[in-house]
Amino acid sequence: MEGRKLLPINQYEEQIVDAVAKHSVVVVIGETGSGKTTQLSQILHRAGYTKKGMIGVTQPRRVAAVSVARRVAWEMDVQLGDEVGYSIRFEDRTSKNTLIKYLTDGCLLRECLFDYEFKQYSVIILDEAHERSLNTDILLGLLKRIAQNRDTELKVIITSATLDGQKFSEYFHGCPVVNVPGKLYPVQLLYSTEVPSSYLESAVETAIDVHVREPEGDILVFLTGQDEIEKVLKMLEERVLMLEEGSCLDAIILPLHASLAPEVQARVFQPAPPNCRRIIVATNVAETSLTVDGVVYVIDPGFVKQRNYNPNTGMDSLSVVRISRVQATQRAGRAGRTRPGKCYRLYPMSAFEEEFLPATVPEIQRSSLTGAVLHLKFLDLPNVDILHFDFIDPPLRESLEDALRQLFAIDAIGPDGKITALGKRIAELPLEPALGRTLLAAEDLGCLSQALTVAAMLSAETIFMQGPKKGEDRKRSREDQQLPNGNNYGDHVQYLQIYELWKKNNFDIKWCRSNNLNIRSMLFAKDVRRQLALITSRKKFEDDEAMQKIKSARSLRKALCQGYACRLAQRMPKHNGYHTVGNKSQLVQLHPATSPLQVDEDGLYPEWILYHELMASSRAFLRHVCVVEKEWVVPILEKLQNINIRSLSGLSGHESQKEKISEGEKKAIASNPIDQEARSVD
Ligand code: CDP
Ligand code: MG
Repeated sequence: MEGRKLLPINQYEEQIVDAVAKHSVVVVIGETGSGKTTQLSQILHRAGYTKKGMIGVTQPRRVAAVSVARRVAWEMDVQLGDEVGYSIRFEDRTSKNTLIKYLTDGCLLRECLFDYEFKQYSVIILDEAHERSLNTDILLGLLKRIAQNRDTELKVIITSATLDGQKFSEYFHGCPVVNVPGKLYPVQLLYSTEVPSSYLESAVETAIDVHVREPEGDILVFLTGQDEIEKVLKMLEERVLMLEEGSCLDAIILPLHASLAPEVQARVFQPAPPNCRRIIVATNVAETSLTVDGVVYVIDPGFVKQRNYNPNTGMDSLSVVRISRVQATQRAGRAGRTRPGKCYRLYPMSAFEEEFLPATVPEIQRSSLTGAVLHLKFLDLPNVDILHFDFIDPPLRESLEDALRQLFAIDAIGPDGKITALGKRIAELPLEPALGRTLLAAEDLGCLSQALTVAAMLSAETIFMQGPKKGEDRKRSREDQQLPNGNNYGDHVQYLQIYELWKKNNFDIKWCRSNNLNIRSMLFAKDVRRQLALITSRKKFEDDEAMQKIKSARSLRKALCQGYACRLAQRMPKHNGYHTVGNKSQLVQLHPATSPLQVDEDGLYPEWILYHELMASSRAFLRHVCVVEKEWVVPILEKLQNINIRSLSGLSGHESQKEKISEGEKKAIASNPIDQEARSVD
């Protein structure tokens, strides 16, 4: 309790409450760890705002939403899920009593489809706005309209850990900014003289060096992902064992990343026992989303894993890139929360000054916008064409056009750019539009149950455990297993077969283990499938299940073909390269190590396929492919040839005829049991 009172933000309680009372939008800036995420909601709760509605706090990351809700429930001494709850995709822990709700920005965006003006809420806190996630940016735009449009009672608070508050304030017509000065102790920056050949080894080296030489205080190491973290944990453990006993403090080595089980994750929030030093090896989640107390030494290799989408090629890349200078400063700041600290930058100062970007490129400028544009189309904002929506930083025009094209291809919007009835149903599903469309097509084709399984399996990250072997060997190990191979129709059908076999084995965990399947992913898929089934539940579909077993995978493939109309590829006539169909055709490959497809007697793969992902690494690879028939592809190609982007964007000159969703229509949506499921699930 005492510690909490001392958090910087609580010393500004009066000023914050006062600003919020007087203005509908307020920006709050405070150093990471100053208490924005955990305290602001409680401050406004104490000020009485929960009497008029919920306080919603958005988080760009699922892991942060869960962890912080748990913390606040504990601080308020209530049951998690009761007065304080959270809601993330595929998991809702709230109840009728919930007053403070932590939710991902994606969840709030979906709620907006049913509750356009966020009437359930008295306050919305857009937290971690500095992260500039795609969904937060869209919410900024929507909340700006709401704040302008009604004599609104809704209070909006934007929080940021960096000093870009001015930018948010300007965007909201000069709304007030409350600055909460953090108590940051000086952090000494130590640069490497050169770029290390392996930053993992260099990080381990530095951590051990600090551990042996420096006085107590925890060490926080920033890496780019789970794989790296696991590798470094092992290396650190080995090195620590080699240290002479009693020569230094004991070391506790802990991971921190998004896919940790909650109990394991909770351990990093417990302080080190006496005579112990914790070495926490974390992803970017520790940069601003989660604050670990007790850190005095930060080791920053200067990298982050970033997803980039190229709208011209439709290509995604997940690559390790340099962090920005703002991020480097944030990371260093983690060392100075409790006393003066040190930050070891594993790169030279010249690299920091010359090679690092000043700030991170906002996600809206490097993501596919298909889902976001569909949301905006759903809201059918009066007098807005998508290309001119008031974004805080506009996305690339190519990205918007790419999204419009994709939405048109899957019939989510019509030639006039208006959302179709189908499009509305797709938007309501907590899935990317391609998969949403697949489910709806599957419903028509009588294979919904199978499509649900495939959608669930695709939602889980890695189904197959990766052995230590690489490349060809890995493929062999996948073939060696006694698992179905998809009958040469590709990954989707294989996923379906695997899931069904697992079901036949009573969802046995041992069965997964003996088949080298990732148990966590499989259980996740099972849970997602259950929830999707709830959402789409129609009595009819359960009855159909017996009939569906008899059906071949053909209907499923056909349904997928409609959902993935913009992700088709055709094999080259004489070799196994594929070219993608669409705007700008690319030459791409099946990933030889991971595709279950086999060549025919001429040594060739099937001619037409669809793909879930086009990833650029050393080359352009298709991930998760499914064989489709030419006769399904032809009508799609014809349709794609006649696209008028101007009219798709909503610039067709019918603005005056545009009507908002009528009240009646809204009610119809709200009272539809399926939609309500969607709301309670996501
Ligand atoms: O949002 P901001 O970075 O300003 O701070 P916060 O996340 O509200 O953190 C305030 C304090 O709560 C810090 O001292 C955190 O270590 C602590 N905290 C915690 O112990 N467990 C959590 N799950 C979240 C925060
Ligand atoms: Mg925070």
